[in-house]
Amino acid sequence: MNVQQLVEPDRVHKSVYTDQAIFDAEMERIWERTWVYCGHESQVPAPGDYYAVTIGRQPMIMVRQGDGSIKVIHNRCPHRGVQLVGNLKGNTGNAFVCSYHAWSFHLDGKVRAIPLAKGYENTRMTRDNPDCSVKPAVRVDSYRGFVFASLSDEGPPLADFLGEARIAFDDMCDRSPVGEVEVVPICHRVIQHSNWKFFMENQLDSLHPSVTHQSTGISAGRVEKRLKAEQGAAPLYYHYLSTFASSFEQWDAVQTINFPRGHGILKAYMGLRPRDPDTLEHEAQLVKAYGAEKAEEYLSRSIHHVLVYPYLSVQSPLQQLRCLRPISPDKTLSEIWHFRLKGAPEAIYRRSLWYYNLVNSPATMINADDLENWTKGQWGLQSNGGDWVSFHRWYGDDREEKGVTYSNHGTSEAVMRNQFRAWTQYLTA
Ligand SMILES: [Fe+2]
Repeated sequence: MNVQQLVEPDRVHKSVYTDQAIFDAEMERIWERTWVYCGHESQVPAPGDYYAVTIGRQPMIMVRQGDGSIKVIHNRCPHRGVQLVGNLKGNTGNAFVCSYHAWSFHLDGKVRAIPLAKGYENTRMTRDNPDCSVKPAVRVDSYRGFVFASLSDEGPPLADFLGEARIAFDDMCDRSPVGEVEVVPICHRVIQHSNWKFFMENQLDSLHPSVTHQSTGISAGRVEKRLKAEQGAAPLYYHYLSTFASSFEQWDAVQTINFPRGHGILKAYMGLRPRDPDTLEHEAQLVKAYGAEKAEEYLSRSIHHVLVYPYLSVQSPLQQLRCLRPISPDKTLSEIWHFRLKGAPEAIYRRSLWYYNLVNSPATMINADDLENWTKGQWGLQSNGGDWVSFHRWYGDDREEKGVTYSNHGTSEAVMRNQFRAWTQYLTA
């Protein structure tokens, strides 16, 4: 496999979306080396709370320790290799006990007891052998409550890996008067029948909403207009949908900022500051907590999406986070999470819940229209109808400064070009 022959600055070969060997290389050289998002610390509030999470192809467990820290360990008993937890989440008490032969382990994975240990005397499998303990992730770290793990000791620390994409978590947390969010413990889990890259490219693709989401946007806009005429105002959630039908010129006027490692931002102020009493109360809370100047900075950030490449899409102004767990070249699990701003009025949470259900839920017409495109995209790329995927739009027009690419047009395919630049670096490193 010659990666350089598959990725050109303005187009990529279809096999990067369809080939099993390339998928395996991605898992090995990207997911199983870099920092991967595990979850939010509020998913495991008490000692013994765990959450099963996949890093690349590795089943892992994120677990709260007795001392309050969080560890990430392989979901594998070192005896015969049986998975230690079968559920997605739960509380394991003060130990993991394997269901096969009852080997037990402390919450950090270190062996606690081997039943009938006499049978292992004078073998290599005695409890002082590190092989008797569950293998931990090499590195675990968190940023503002969001937990990441790396299966490699090489590469930058978490904060450097995230780089400018840290704004995703800052923007989310800064909107809370106490600077913290907590997870809403149920997420949508959706299997996308397409390569993971379709999703990542789509997130900052300003060229598609006025086409893909036109029918939904126009319908919502009609109702919004009618309600405004009849009642003087329409609920904000109509606006969530009607903006998808913004004109091509409006989408072209926004900007994408494309960072090293494939991360990026789609700017666009989401207009979440109506003058209703709940919004005013929320704003007053932030002024009290941070002062007028900081509060204004936090409330007026121009962010629509932040991408943490290659697996997160964060809509920080509405506390939404989607995480990819690739399964195969044409199958991707997405987890669709949302968060509560700690200390903020309940109505502000309700507002983000509307967005979660109306835009990001698999049951909505927005997400469903995207899912259909990605599936059809996968089918098209698996065919013999052509070999290349085009990312030529506004090629040569973007502005680059110190490794950051600023698009002059919202619809520039700078986003995809930047992602494949990172992808190539990962695969050839
Ligand atoms: Fe879309």
